[in-house]
Amino acid sequence: MSHHDDHPPVTDWINDWDWLDDQWGENAINIWNDVREQCPVATTDRYGRAYMPVTMEGVSAVAKDTENFSSMWISVTRPDGPRSPAPPITSDPPEHADHRRLLLPAFNPRKMAAMEDEMREFCRSLIAKLDGDDSADAAEQYAQHIPVHGICKITGMPEEDADRFRDWIYRSLQLAPKDNEVRAAVSSEMTAYIEVLLNDRIKNPKDDLLTEVAVAKFDGVDVDWTLKVGYIRLMIVAGIDTTWSALGSGLWHFAQHNDEVQRLVAVDNDDPLWGTAIEEVLRYYSPVTMARRVLNDVEISGCPVKADDQMLLTFPAANHDPAAFENAHEFQLDRAKNRHVAFGLGVHRCAGSNLARMEMSIGTQEWLRAFPNYSLDTTKKTKWANGQVRGPRNIPVNLNR
Ligand code: HEM
Repeated sequence: MSHHDDHPPVTDWINDWDWLDDQWGENAINIWNDVREQCPVATTDRYGRAYMPVTMEGVSAVAKDTENFSSMWISVTRPDGPRSPAPPITSDPPEHADHRRLLLPAFNPRKMAAMEDEMREFCRSLIAKLDGDDSADAAEQYAQHIPVHGICKITGMPEEDADRFRDWIYRSLQLAPKDNEVRAAVSSEMTAYIEVLLNDRIKNPKDDLLTEVAVAKFDGVDVDWTLKVGYIRLMIVAGIDTTWSALGSGLWHFAQHNDEVQRLVAVDNDDPLWGTAIEEVLRYYSPVTMARRVLNDVEISGCPVKADDQMLLTFPAANHDPAAFENAHEFQLDRAKNRHVAFGLGVHRCAGSNLARMEMSIGTQEWLRAFPNYSLDTTKKTKWANGQVRGPRNIPVNLNR
């Protein structure tokens, strides 16, 4: 069956939403705001029965309730789709805690601080490659390389394979939810690739996360091989596209708000304005939407849901809820109270948030300082990725040196 038969363009976002619809990428914020004015939870039957809460109250209730909502399904997709483990994100309590504990040390604030200078050098080297150019693509020539560099430094994966990572991410997030064959193919390609790296580290241990995972034990017992492959699968899927999208959204935004750029470049890198600016990019452009499998018949925001239904975990929609943020629709560079949930909440809260924040801060600082008058080239179109990780895939800009 062709995808188009299955997925005609959405005309009713309350009863027939689709996170892979062409309108989602560019317009998701307006879509969530419109739905919220009418009801707290939208539904669809396009992937079996699935729900979409759009309020902070509904999203928090799902995220905190691991008894009724399982992470065994983290994407709204064909219900018969094959699913590969990627712990801890696909695990439920109590096992979840062990998996999370195994990964967390790789992302602690001390390690991130130690990476900062080298990351700044890396950003400058990307900017140096634009030497003499009048225009650029701030996504393809800049933002997308920064998280690949970070994740390769931490895991020990080869950075030359970046195109392969991006291809897997594109196919697994944008195509696989509608197509089980794509899902199975990407999964087996990734497994084969990761197995080679893990086997290499068993023979040639290094000081990297691949080695730690390759030899990981719980209570003296070797961790299952499929789970070891799963940790690295998660590093590729969670660590690259997410930060690329968040950093890119910020660069896309600032390309259209030079007054904000001028305020930022006028202060030092450790000024609190940089901190509030990055948090506001995270709130406003919040790239990551997750999902859960409903385990029991329960209610969410007064809406009954049934066991085996799917539940979108729309963190970005919660970040635009006027009940949770003053003037939620406004991008405020110095927003003081900003309890956004771009990194999720509850036991699965993002394990890589320190890395993501460091990459976003340094990446944004270096770009804005190098090109304080850059602007969006509106003669070209920006394409937005829809679905699980939303963000601009290209950011055509004039550098206006
Ligand atoms: C701006 C960038 C990022 C955003 C917005 C983001 C967002 C999220 C969100 C919303 C969750 C919660 C998932 C859930 O509740 O099901 C999550 C979990 C996770 N993220 Fe991130 N993430 C980002 C960057 C990263 C990076 C760079 C890494 C590094 C590899 C990473 C690793 C993880 C891991 C391992 C989990 C699972 C934690 C658990 O299940 O206990 N993320 N992330």
